[in-house]
Amino acid sequence: MSSSAAPAQPTALYGGQQGRRVTVRDIAAAKERREKWPMLTAYDALTARIFDEAGIPVLLVGDSAAMVVYGYDSTIPVTVDDLIPLAAAVVRGSKRAMVVADLPFGSYQTGVPEALANATRFMKETGAHAIKLEGGRRILPQVEAMVAAGIPVMAHLGLTPQSVNVFGGYRVQGRGESGEELLTDAKSLEAAGAFSVVLECVPEDLAARVTSSLSIPTIGIGGGNQTDAQVLVWQDMAGLTPHTAKFVKKYADLGAALGDAARTYADEVVNGVYPAPEHSYR
Ligand code: KIV
Repeated sequence: MSSSAAPAQPTALYGGQQGRRVTVRDIAAAKERREKWPMLTAYDALTARIFDEAGIPVLLVGDSAAMVVYGYDSTIPVTVDDLIPLAAAVVRGSKRAMVVADLPFGSYQTGVPEALANATRFMKETGAHAIKLEGGRRILPQVEAMVAAGIPVMAHLGLTPQSVNVFGGYRVQGRGESGEELLTDAKSLEAAGAFSVVLECVPEDLAARVTSSLSIPTIGIGGGNQTDAQVLVWQDMAGLTPHTAKFVKKYADLGAALGDAARTYADEVVNGVYPAPEHSYR
């Protein structure tokens, strides 16, 4: 299956003329050119292909799969074994996007050996091109070890959902003095070798400050429009998720379209309209 529509804006970031995969060098070059770029989550081959063909240069196999794929009410329960088949499917479904796989809760916090072992599993068993993990200075040893081992690391600061129980809910982070702490975390992650950093649910002026203070790109989700890139969970932006945060913009209403399709199908089966002669073999 292939869509006929060309990517909206084919750029160097999207793999250049050769149609190759986007790399960390492309991402770094985009920051130098001050070129903004979009990232979406993906969890299966079919949607990965659609987003890849639409020109999305980076696909994130987020631990948000815990909610949108597995039906949990937080990201805490999902495991490495749950996410590995999804990341492998996204790599198989895409040709040009860089695929980033999330390390889930409990797979890297206990120390460097465990973090390295799990990141290595993602790289070897799924073909992912980079790893994402949540946290600031407390996970610097893990970031340094992964980078030294040849694994590109995307960091994640602000509202890090794996720490929801410490935050006491999904709340904006980095207001007031804690903004300075976040900025220090971001600079430390850059120094440790992270190639990018997600900033989730932080005040827009803080996200802008972090963005201008770093030479690696910032990827905002609920961080205003001054970050180098933006990321959304695809089911949120496509209207499949019933309740979404303030920062989500709905670009389609797939929930309503799917519901209509299912109701029409059910109605046609019940009334003997489907299958029609053109759907039957002779
Ligand atoms: O798991 C996820 O989908 C994420 C993004 C929302 C950044 O971490």
